[in-house]
Amino acid sequence: MGRRWMATVAISLAGLLALSACGDGEGGNDSRRQVAVFSWWTGAGEADGLKAMRQIFERDNPRLKFFDAAVAGGSGDQARALLSSKLNANQPPDTFQGHAGAELQGYIKAGKLESLNFLYDELKLKDVFPKQLIDQISVQGQVYSVPVNIHRSNVLWFNPSVLKAAGITGPPATIPGFVAALEKVRAAGKIPLSLGPQWTAVHLLECVLLGSLGTPAYNRLWTSGSDWSGPEVTKALTDFKTILSYAGDPVDDWQPAARQVADGEAAFMIMGDWAYGYFHNPPDGGLGKVSRTDFDWAPSPGTDGTFMWLSDSFTLPRGAPSRDGAVAWLKVAASREGQDAFNPLKGSIPARTDADKSLYKDYLKWNLSQWATSKLAGSIQHGVVANDNWRTAINDAVGLFQQDLDVADFQQALVEAAKNSGQ
Ligand code: GAL
Repeated sequence: MGRRWMATVAISLAGLLALSACGDGEGGNDSRRQVAVFSWWTGAGEADGLKAMRQIFERDNPRLKFFDAAVAGGSGDQARALLSSKLNANQPPDTFQGHAGAELQGYIKAGKLESLNFLYDELKLKDVFPKQLIDQISVQGQVYSVPVNIHRSNVLWFNPSVLKAAGITGPPATIPGFVAALEKVRAAGKIPLSLGPQWTAVHLLECVLLGSLGTPAYNRLWTSGSDWSGPEVTKALTDFKTILSYAGDPVDDWQPAARQVADGEAAFMIMGDWAYGYFHNPPDGGLGKVSRTDFDWAPSPGTDGTFMWLSDSFTLPRGAPSRDGAVAWLKVAASREGQDAFNPLKGSIPARTDADKSLYKDYLKWNLSQWATSKLAGSIQHGVVANDNWRTAINDAVGLFQQDLDVADFQQALVEAAKNSGQ
């Protein structure tokens, strides 16, 4: 049964898939039952955390075998498209990664997920996850996923040597300061801002909207009847256009964009803190760079005091071929041990409030304290504030804007996207 999922994904996306953990899965002498775990954590920096949880899962469940059903591609745009077609065809994996918030609410409303209240009761999970996070993954008192982490979207990563050589004294705290710094880097002959595929431009957009509008106005964009047509949005989109004009040629994914910063080809990148795992983890998984020396970070310009959050969570799809195996996986993802193995490598902080804080050092220590004290805003690209319809429409609008750079058309497309989102 697990095989049906594996066979179909393998056939449908042959070249795109990184079915990395097949091993002796389909044949050989291994009689363990496979559990297909779907995510998009195949790349450098992404896969390390997953591997750490997998080791705990296989240690605790000798009769089960982890099957890595990950689909490559940062931010899961390819993965999420495939997942949606598999769910619609009632061919779910055993468990999949879904973002807490509007994205997950979409799966719940479509009836694709089993309630996990039984697991929350058994493991007393309501005592260890923040209430506002549980609200994001619940409908009518039923909880539908297990959040494994909290990621931060609004981070400005930079190369201190490149800034110094360009005569920039520190990371810019405001959008005008950012534009001035980008200009200095350009004059110094380096790439001012590294950029990857289209979704990284959407990621940039969410951070520029937050920095330009401020937190209350950004958060209002996602409430019903919100107004995307006003002059402050025009101003924010104009800021986005200016900042985008300093981006280098788009590279294939967020890792090569991060590498441009780490290697000193580029000065800045605005990216989520999965980039920390990539910069910092030892070679093989990461780049083995030294923080504050080879790379450094600050809140993205104009967003100090606000944490733009997202959370990776695992689900139990209705009709999971290996339901018991999926529940065993969810137990690891929910556990303190699982979260403390996963998050320091993933570049995220634990969703559980009782994690071992001593394991979170350097950037992660800073970020844990930010999480405790900041205002909150939700990510667009990573599933918090906009359902899949809305996010896809925003993505399309950004794609067109990258070609024609027409702010008025862009704003109109965003007005329409909000109106038609059905959210
Ligand atoms: C996000 C996901 C993160 C990270 C990132 C880059 O959507 O929540 O865990 O994987 O994409 O791929």
